[in-house]
Amino acid sequence: MSTNLAKQTDFDAIIIGAGACGLMCAVQAGFLGKRVLVLEKNDRPGAKILISGGGRCNYTNLYSSAQQFISQNEHFSKSAFAQWTVEDTINFFEAYGIVGKEKTLGQLFPVSDKAKDVVNVFTSLCADMGQELWCDAEVVNVEKVGDNFSIHLTRNGKEQKLLAPKVVMAAGGLPIPKMGATDLGLRVARKLGMQIAGAAPALVPLTITGKDQGWYEQLSGNSLFCRVWNDRASFEENILFTHWGLSGPAILQISSYWRPGEWIYIDLLPHQNIVELIQQEREANGKKMLLAYLSNLFTRKFAEAISDRLPADKNLASLSNADLENIDALIHQFKVKPAGDKGYDKAEVMRGGVSTDELSSKTLEAKKVSGLFFGGECVDVTGWLGGYNFQWAWASGFVIAQNL
Ligand code: FDA
Repeated sequence: MSTNLAKQTDFDAIIIGAGACGLMCAVQAGFLGKRVLVLEKNDRPGAKILISGGGRCNYTNLYSSAQQFISQNEHFSKSAFAQWTVEDTINFFEAYGIVGKEKTLGQLFPVSDKAKDVVNVFTSLCADMGQELWCDAEVVNVEKVGDNFSIHLTRNGKEQKLLAPKVVMAAGGLPIPKMGATDLGLRVARKLGMQIAGAAPALVPLTITGKDQGWYEQLSGNSLFCRVWNDRASFEENILFTHWGLSGPAILQISSYWRPGEWIYIDLLPHQNIVELIQQEREANGKKMLLAYLSNLFTRKFAEAISDRLPADKNLASLSNADLENIDALIHQFKVKPAGDKGYDKAEVMRGGVSTDELSSKTLEAKKVSGLFFGGECVDVTGWLGGYNFQWAWASGFVIAQNL
């Protein structure tokens, strides 16, 4: 075959990306008797599923709804989530032997704790239904040619062009380039005249530089249950101090709502009132030093660290009202201005992506380019930490399959 002439395939659609969205789409299309070819850049499917949830795959969240997703259009995901619910995810995996267990906050993992069981469901079903999956096949371009799409790829180092009547862009987002992430979804959308909503790392650790860095560094490895918030959102989970700044679930969550130059706020003792606690304690133990008291509430290491910002060597009885105000502000409204984030190398997802204005919310087909569908992470629908992003990937893959 010539490398310049595109080969007409007998597939109903070509799916680009064998990740969560592409694999679900291939399987659901198979259930409807549609033949697809899945093209995957990596040498195996589902690379991110395999590393997700620490290799255990938090594959959905019991409480998932459109509210836990960030998008320029907060209503966009509702149609997909109505078509493919959390119950559908649970039932689908149960039907193929994966029973879920809730770890925390509605997060569902396979009882086996093995992410590879999730990938195996898709590879087995694709094989059973004769859905074709080519690995080591990197798509470099997609063009509209008449009623078809011409897909330009390199497979095992050789260039090839394929023609297909429909294309599903399930090539994911930009996080973790070393695992195969490319900007193909965004690039193709842009070339076809579609708008992109600001793409940036999300669910990502935040960095502290300058004179404050040493303060965080001394606490590296310490974690603390906190409430973290800014003007847009608030989360109660652990934060983790690292030698370069802050991580942990609450920080990853707020990072999706944080913009460079902004402050975030941390309540280090949520649901308690430090001033009331001190007032109660000093009635019985007025001679107790503030540092000793804080060491009861936090780890000694953490109490010592915050003591450099407090009158730690005073005893509780001698704390003035001004001291109590300072303590209250420090404990319940600890202010942090991150220098930046750890970027796509460490981000769990990309926020932003192909603008929802460009897609039908019911079918996920591009409004300007019929036959072209976008699903999963390359669309401007970004979930919180906790299984929400997979729920979107499964739901969008299902919806697209119904419309191929
Ligand atoms: P995904 O990235 O899964 O798949 C896209 C595929 O397209 C990839 O296989 C890629 O190689 C391929 N591709 C890219 N460019 C290509 C090209 N040009 N040609 C051919 N193929 C190409 N979410 C969650 O809900 N629960 C969790 O536990 C976790 N845990 C987690 C841990 C870590 C470390 C990360 C980085 C991410 C998570 N996530 C998560 C997020 C979750 O992995 C992510 O939202 C989904 O994988 C997105 O699914 P997609 O199918 O859209 O992209």
